[in-house]
Amino acid sequence: MNTILAGVLAYLIGSVSFAVVVSKLFGLSDPRTYGSKNPGATNVLRSGNKAAAVLTLLGDAVKGWFAVWLATHYAEQFNLDDGSIALVAIAVLLGHLWPVFFKFVGGKGVATAAGVLIGINAWLGVATLMTWLVIAFAFRYSSLAALIAAIFAPLYYGMLFGPDVKLLAVFVMSGLLVYRHSQNIVNLMKGKESKIGSKKK
Ligand code: G3P
Repeated sequence: MNTILAGVLAYLIGSVSFAVVVSKLFGLSDPRTYGSKNPGATNVLRSGNKAAAVLTLLGDAVKGWFAVWLATHYAEQFNLDDGSIALVAIAVLLGHLWPVFFKFVGGKGVATAAGVLIGINAWLGVATLMTWLVIAFAFRYSSLAALIAAIFAPLYYGMLFGPDVKLLAVFVMSGLLVYRHSQNIVNLMKGKESKIGSKKK
């Protein structure tokens, strides 16, 4: 029962779309109406407001981290095992992708997944973030960096901890993230993907 409650709470935390909230606070257009139409930091950056993009990135990452931290911190008190924490990791990402507070129209999950990975293990998070940064700096495509990082994250987890239920969660998260980047994959293949920092259309 506690596992289900933890999962529901994580889903609700994930459902807070910082791209929409921060854009409203800054008086910007709704990110679901321009650029890639994705409520995420990369698309908020297309508004030209860097501070709003950074706040979106931080908010979405912190909610992922917070959900995992909460479950881990209170694991003993509420009888939450590794399986429960794996469920929480997936649930907070599901909230971000299909948020109950925003008609189930959510983001692509990159920042939230990064936060989750940091919550699971700091080294796992750092290794995955470094992968994102290297690809992003080399190619200037946020989506490509996310896709490569998503492929590497389960490998890093496997190398650090070996196979367990949380590795399964990381696999599921990577699969969801790749799925949500379907349009980006098409755009990348057609050479139509917009680079980091390009302005909205
Ligand atoms: O963080 C999402 C990123 O990987 C792609 O975003 O807006 O270019 O589709 P976007």
